[in-house]
Amino acid sequence: MPLPPPYQDLLAEVLIAEEPLQQRIAELGAQISQDYQGQDLLLICILRGGVMFLTDLMRAIHIPHAIDFMAVSSYGAGARATSGQVRINMDLSIAIAGRNVLLVEDIVDSGNTIAAVLKMLQARGPASLKVCTLLDKPAARQTPVPIDYTGFSIPSKFVFGYGLDLDEYYRNLPFIGVVDLDKYTPPE
Ligand code: IMP
Ligand code: MG
Repeated sequence: MPLPPPYQDLLAEVLIAEEPLQQRIAELGAQISQDYQGQDLLLICILRGGVMFLTDLMRAIHIPHAIDFMAVSSYGAGARATSGQVRINMDLSIAIAGRNVLLVEDIVDSGNTIAAVLKMLQARGPASLKVCTLLDKPAARQTPVPIDYTGFSIPSKFVFGYGLDLDEYYRNLPFIGVVDLDKYTPPE
């Protein structure tokens, strides 16, 4: 398997540097702590893109809360093709009936993924169900979705880093970068 190039070769620009990213996450954590004060809170991270955001966000939330994970994928071709059909690859390990659930997502793009996840989880009878996304690409929306907490609204460019992958690599970068599409060749 060929090694992926260093990220510098694929980076058009740093869109959100580490410091503003962490600053915004601290603000979101403070807001969530205030909004859920005195209530039970369960964060659900959608794997794998949401994992960096979850681990930083939970350290910025100063009220007791639990976490769980689920993994979903879109049916059909290509990582960037969203047909609107979403399959659960790994389900939650706990029941959410009667709990205050906050979904933690890396990015809402077409909105298809989060819309499908919300529908599936709503059917399980949570006390409340809200969405916290680090990034939002409002111009790319196909399915309208309610978003309760947004880190940053960004233009409809393909981004990577901080949990978001480029063909499964570069999730470890501590910032959000824009992919240089002239230099990036998708795998076969
Ligand atoms: P949706 O189009 O809102 O259904 O987004 C589905 C998923 O596509 C997101 O959870 C991300 O994992 C992925 N995605 C969308 N835009 C980007 C991007 O710019 N970089 C990396 N992943 C993305
Ligand atoms: Mg993804």
